[in-house]
Amino acid sequence: MLTTLIYRSQLDSSCHDDALNMLVEQAKQRNTALGITGIMLFNGQDILQVLEGREDRVVALYQRIVKDKRHASVVELMRDYGPRRRFENVGMLLFDLQVRSPKTVLQSVLRYSKLESYLASDDRVFKFIQSFITRGNYAHRHHDERAEAWTLTSEKHPFGEPAGLIDGQTCQFALQPIVEPYEGKISSLEMLIRGNDGGSPEQFFANLDPAKIYEVDLQTKAYAFALAKRLKIGSHKIAVNLLPMSLVNVPGAVEFLVEQIQLSGLQPEQVIIEVTENEMISGFNTFNNAIKALRGTGIGLAIDDFGSGYAGLSLLTKFQPDKLKIDREIVSNVHLSGPKQAIVKSIVSCCTDLEISLVAEGIEKLEEWRWLESAGIRRFQGFLFARPQLNGVGDIHWPHMRH
Ligand SMILES: Cc1cc2nc3c(=O)[nH]c(=O)nc-3n(C[C@H](O)[C@H](O)[C@H](O)COP(=O)(O)O)c2cc1C
Repeated sequence: MLTTLIYRSQLDSSCHDDALNMLVEQAKQRNTALGITGIMLFNGQDILQVLEGREDRVVALYQRIVKDKRHASVVELMRDYGPRRRFENVGMLLFDLQVRSPKTVLQSVLRYSKLESYLASDDRVFKFIQSFITRGNYAHRHHDERAEAWTLTSEKHPFGEPAGLIDGQTCQFALQPIVEPYEGKISSLEMLIRGNDGGSPEQFFANLDPAKIYEVDLQTKAYAFALAKRLKIGSHKIAVNLLPMSLVNVPGAVEFLVEQIQLSGLQPEQVIIEVTENEMISGFNTFNNAIKALRGTGIGLAIDDFGSGYAGLSLLTKFQPDKLKIDREIVSNVHLSGPKQAIVKSIVSCCTDLEISLVAEGIEKLEEWRWLESAGIRRFQGFLFARPQLNGVGDIHWPHMRH
């Protein structure tokens, strides 16, 4: 199948001039043999390359290009399919914006195009090319400090040794810190429910009598608050997950929460209730009143897994939480994906205007953290920084710059 793939990257300064010309010459021969057309634009720093050809060949070539040490910060912008080639099968062409004007570069790219000009003006591939030519450097540069410049050092159990299994409870909790790495600060501790066998939340709820789910869900929060007291969390905040229908179906649910919070010596303002985006949108009208009551006590509200459901930003027209957690699917390999970066930027901009704090969850790589930090996110949760630990807080890995 005919595929078009576009990426951008930053060329290493050791690969300018003659070295770049040599790279292009070699690539031209290889591409011609593979029936791939490579249109490469260079502005003295950034590369934009369009690769067009058979899908398996383009994908295999791109995998090699991504690993090439002569450039860095490679971000895939587009991968699409089409009925016919946009460009003649020329192997490889380099357009250097340092030696030719934007206008002549655009004209020559169009000269190699097989698309009628009225089609080209509406074509995403040509729009990417045109933006690169006219806008020059990308407005948002997210590679000020590369991930390689950073390393992690661990802080041992900041709240003492974990308690192990606690007897006499229907469930256990595993704690995972949400951190602000630049500040070296724990922002809050999420308390994740676990079965007594250590099983996941899904397993725990699947084993319950369906008629009792909401009641049990609510009652388990009492264990979480008691554990927070036992761990002496001080003025730290804790976040617990709750099925929003538990607030509707169990009479006196909000009062119960406040009572249990106070029994454990905590303030309602220290507690954040997390509900998922899908739960929020599917039952919004039903539990709107319960949410209001909850907010009236001072308990905070966060939207979990934002971006995984079907509501998206339109949810924020109905309701603005204190905190929004960007789903791990968007976070994963964000440094490599143009579409993911565009989505994160729009969430950051929206939440900045609405004064909603943002957390990126599921961080596993330094590269993901670096990109998100430079996009304006300050709070992070994920295995890179700390894993969930049963009835305690595990080691925290703080990033710092290498000397
Ligand atoms: C910015 C950039 C663009 C490249 N474009 C191509 C290309 O279009 N075709 C190609 O064969 N190699 C291209 N290369 C070189 C490949 O990364 C790789 O070195 C080459 O395919 C040989 O792969 P191999 O050493 O694994 O055999 C490019 C390298 C860079 C840095």
